[in-house]
Amino acid sequence: MSIEIMGVLGAGQMGAGIAHVAAVAGLTVKVADADRARAQAGIDGIAKRLSKDVAKGKLSEAERDAALGRLHAVDSLADFGDADLVVEAVSENEALKLKLFKALDEACKPGAVLASNTSSIPITRIAAATGRPELVIGMHFMNPVPVMKLVEVIRGIATSDDTTAATVALAERLGKVTVTARDMPGFIINRVLMPMINEAAYALYEGIGTAQDIDTGMKLGTNQPMGPLTLADFIGLDTCLAIMEVLHQGLGDSKYRPCPLLRQYVDAGWLGRKAGRGFHDYREAR
Ligand code: CAA
Repeated sequence: MSIEIMGVLGAGQMGAGIAHVAAVAGLTVKVADADRARAQAGIDGIAKRLSKDVAKGKLSEAERDAALGRLHAVDSLADFGDADLVVEAVSENEALKLKLFKALDEACKPGAVLASNTSSIPITRIAAATGRPELVIGMHFMNPVPVMKLVEVIRGIATSDDTTAATVALAERLGKVTVTARDMPGFIINRVLMPMINEAAYALYEGIGTAQDIDTGMKLGTNQPMGPLTLADFIGLDTCLAIMEVLHQGLGDSKYRPCPLLRQYVDAGWLGRKAGRGFHDYREAR
């Protein structure tokens, strides 16, 4: 299974990051979003980041221009007919993903792999919305995609060995290291990461320490690049809450119950860095 033409569905932070690394790695990348203008906005953002890499001497101007020449905004997923693999990176909404995978199954050629960047929705359920469950797989990139080395590969119950091998080979071509996870709630990364973030929220809720102390303690005491509450703000508190709900409901164990303070922040619209406020306040920095 050789992958040369890739479709990326969703040109937000994750989709744009995936398109960025794929274009730099030499693949032809078609980017779709709700409309062509949004897809183009995602590519414009990639162009800016590539120019920063040129300024830092990480990329030559010719390499930047070649990567940009391989990125194409398209009108809709109907334009993915010649793609060898499509990665879906729309928001974490199950009904939307199921609808889009049904449409991708109709639009894509036979044999094309359909991958989802979901962080928590079962791959097996997404695959069942298509007529090609053996070709459906999880390809979970980490944020920020150009910086983070990992891709978590998730096999649905019907995912074939060939699909898994092609996905791992693609991730390696993008310069990433892979781990393979079974299709259980949270897979590996969020099964471990989110309870840590949730516990940090409990530590704040119970007054064990201030947000600053919890983050500084974990950052300097356990060598993490950012403390757990800062990381939660970076990921988005709505996303963190949604993943905790998936763990709680999917595993049925009360140890995964979301912290009431996390829920209250989401109710308040304090969603983290993107909202200017979460566990920390970013409004002055803007
Ligand atoms: N896109 C591209 N490059 C970026 C970037 C972005 N969005 N953000 C930062 N960078 C680059 C910077 O340009 C810089 O590059 P150079 O070293 O070449 O100058 C480098 O990353 C370091 O950036 P900074 O100096 O600005 O800041 P930093 O040293 O604090 O690093 C960070 C920023 C990489 C985000 C770091 O804090 C970090 O690794 N944080 C943890 C990130 C993490 O855990 N991500 C996973 C979240 S979980 C997830 O994604 C899965 C899920 O399902 C929830």
